[in-house]
Amino acid sequence: MPDVMSSVSAVRQVPLLERGTVMTELAGALDSAARGVGGTVFVTGEAGIGKTSVVERFSAECGAPRVLWGACEALFTPRPLGPLHDIARRTGGRLLELLTTGASREAVFAASLAELERAPSPALVVIEDVHWADEATLDWLKFLGRRVPRLAALIVATYRDDEIVSDHPLRAVIGALPPATVRRLALARLTPGAVAALAREAGRDPAELYRVSAGNPFFVSELLGAPPGEVPQSVRDAVLARAAKLGGPARDALEAVAVVPGFCERWLLADVVGDDPAALDACLATGVLQVQDRDRAIVFRHELARLAVEQSLPPDKARRWHRTVFEALERRAGERSVSASRLVHHAASADDGVAVLRLAPRAADQAAAVGAHRQALAHLTTALQFAGGLPAADRAALYDRRAYECYVTEQHAAGITDRLAAMALWREVGDERRAGDDLRWLSRMSWFLGRRADAERYADDAVALLGRFPESRELAMAYSNRAHLAMLSWDDAGAIAWGNRAIALAERLGDADVLVHALNNVGTAMAQRDYRAGVARLRRSLELAVAGGFQEHVARGHTNLGCVMAERCEPEAATVFDAGIAWSEDRDLDAWTLYMTAWRARHRWQRADFAAAVADAERVLGHPTASLISRTPALSALGRAYVRMGDDRALAVLDEALELALATTELQRIAPVRLGRAELAWLSGDDAGARRELDEVYTLSLEHRHDFTRGEIALWLQRAGGLAAIPDGVGEPFALELAGDWRGAAAAWQRLDCPVERALALALAGDEPALREAFDILSRVGALGVLKGLRHRLKARGAGAIPRGSRRSTRANPAGLTNRQLDVLRLLAQGLPNAAIASRLGLSQRTVDHHVSAVLGKIGAATRAEAAAIAVARGIAVPRS
Ligand SMILES: Nc1ncnc2c1ncn2[C@@H]1O[C@H](COP(=O)(O)OP(=O)(O)O)[C@@H](O)[C@H]1O
Ligand SMILES: [Mg+2]
Repeated sequence: MPDVMSSVSAVRQVPLLERGTVMTELAGALDSAARGVGGTVFVTGEAGIGKTSVVERFSAECGAPRVLWGACEALFTPRPLGPLHDIARRTGGRLLELLTTGASREAVFAASLAELERAPSPALVVIEDVHWADEATLDWLKFLGRRVPRLAALIVATYRDDEIVSDHPLRAVIGALPPATVRRLALARLTPGAVAALAREAGRDPAELYRVSAGNPFFVSELLGAPPGEVPQSVRDAVLARAAKLGGPARDALEAVAVVPGFCERWLLADVVGDDPAALDACLATGVLQVQDRDRAIVFRHELARLAVEQSLPPDKARRWHRTVFEALERRAGERSVSASRLVHHAASADDGVAVLRLAPRAADQAAAVGAHRQALAHLTTALQFAGGLPAADRAALYDRRAYECYVTEQHAAGITDRLAAMALWREVGDERRAGDDLRWLSRMSWFLGRRADAERYADDAVALLGRFPESRELAMAYSNRAHLAMLSWDDAGAIAWGNRAIALAERLGDADVLVHALNNVGTAMAQRDYRAGVARLRRSLELAVAGGFQEHVARGHTNLGCVMAERCEPEAATVFDAGIAWSEDRDLDAWTLYMTAWRARHRWQRADFAAAVADAERVLGHPTASLISRTPALSALGRAYVRMGDDRALAVLDEALELALATTELQRIAPVRLGRAELAWLSGDDAGARRELDEVYTLSLEHRHDFTRGEIALWLQRAGGLAAIPDGVGEPFALELAGDWRGAAAAWQRLDCPVERALALALAGDEPALREAFDILSRVGALGVLKGLRHRLKARGAGAIPRGSRRSTRANPAGLTNRQLDVLRLLAQGLPNAAIASRLGLSQRTVDHHVSAVLGKIGAATRAEAAAIAVARGIAVPRS
């Protein structure tokens, strides 16, 4: 536990077998940290494999001037930021002050970072047993892990890999760290040879010892510690055989410690069983218990041993011990180590419902305040188990609170169940206002589950119910929720009407939170009719969100501003997304980071910056917890990039995108996928296939007032020969092209910086020079899929001379260099003068002179040295040795 030194002295007596490689790896990581390049090492393996032993030994011997040690507890519901409390106890100072005064988690996290930055360095941070970590600790680990690569510090965390099932939140944390800075060291079981050596030393049968222990070091040590005679057949038997030697007061002491997970303070043991040094000594003599933390605490030698003893207690007896421990802890509730989580654990285990109902909601508050929402939820679940006798209103309030924690931990189905339970209870006691607020929440959570019809119904019911009572914040929020739903499905008239009602009411009530929410919805919807006015509204929402410190609203402001711009191909979207992504990343708001990254992929696809688009999309799709709502735009951007690049994975990606998009039922997600699929069909000459895709969304696009989407669908329908009449209300570049003004359309696309759109306008309707320009553009940006498809279509149409476009090999280099020019550039980057390049390639020097000036022009280099640097940076040439 917290005190490394004192527990290490106990370990040192035992030689650590077969851990040389692991120690070397750890030392290497610490060396790198000492040079300012820190990282995170996970030491993993089953319980008893020797994680703690390795880490303790390393901390004691590695020479790191500062070791910050914290451990996660095996409570039913761990204390939020438990390991950080351990560390702060050691560091004292500002970190401790912030933690004990309940400061914001941003402040606490920042202070912990400052601890790592402080001299002397390198600092070694050990976080033990993170499979038990609370959610706030996991957030903190992610926060540190993302920053440690720039610091002279090493994080070493241990966990039981067999507890990390596929949806364990730790997986997401590890997945969200920069991969190059993360190491995993999986500890192996001891070999038969090592076990045999230990057995012979202790005079036991090596084969039997290996058979029972299977090389697990803890099992080995327990078996060796069992009384002489027959080898126990399980670890539990071994532990209990050792413990069986204890009787009377020693047995009491052992049982008392066994119900206390983690460690048991000496004062606690004395309060529970009386101060009896002889009893304690008897326990220590068996080796089942150990002292720790400079003798201030008593611990089992291993959590597995504690569990073996605890589980051997008859239930009645266990309950009695828990009650005594609970009472003792409560008398010392001022002690730093007496956390609310510990109190709830023992109260619940003692079946003390009154105490649980008094303490668990408070523990939930504390957990939620630092962002440990899963633990808040667990405490509320504990409370609800004892809530049967509470008045209906108190029960309803508990259900509401748990439903909120379900919402923030994205467990919407469970949240809906709780809201329904709460609503029924509020109705029972006649509190229609609270029931109305539940309806609004039911709407929100139904939307998240893709249950659009339920979402609509609940939203309407909430407005109807709350509208019967005096004006309230709940009503304003119900209006804004209605606006939000309308906005998401591009019902802009509805969104603006509802949103304006929300705004007016929020202003009368002086409620900034609702105001910001509603302004965002209205601005997003309004942008479809009047782009400038909508953007202005969104900007105001964003400013208010920043001023009010509403983090989620700031992220949402950037998101919707960027999306509105991207939907209209406005180049400014890039700036907004870059800023929004950086802002969310700094605060670890991953959901927003991912959503905006997916949309930036789409924007980069529009710019024909395919490599960057693919990189953004892959980042989202490779993230372990990216939601459907982020994966959908990422997949459609990736699929559309593949279509234009001519990558044959396009259809598979768009199939997956379609499935997800259809689940949302929202045109804003379905239309891009259908368009991508239509373009793919059209490029392969399958006009009927293209029309089938477009027909799925054309009517819908006429029902929604989104001029760019309507225009894009109409234009592709026209290209595929399926547009009966040109619709009203289509965006400018589309309108120009639909009306046959290809010059105007091409110019508009140039203004919006959409090269492929421009090329298509030029190629499909333009004259001979326009056609040539189109092919130049397409080969320059690497749109080989479009190039190829277009050439086939033009041939089939019986067009005359079709430009060849550049050669296929230009794909790898967006600058559009030919193979020959690439050769020249590679040699140039090696420092060869033109004459030497000429003789290498068998060309005249004049030709090489020409190539060199063409190359410099194409890659935008002013000098040969610059060209060489660019070539290396783009991977065209290797660096000069
Ligand atoms: N490499 C090793 N060689 C010999 N004994 C070991 C080794 N690693 C661990 N042990 C023994 O196993 C026990 C349990 O190890 P521990 O480090 O607590 O496991 P974990 O933390 O992985 O659950 C230790 O107390 C020690 O007696
Ligand atoms: Mg351990």
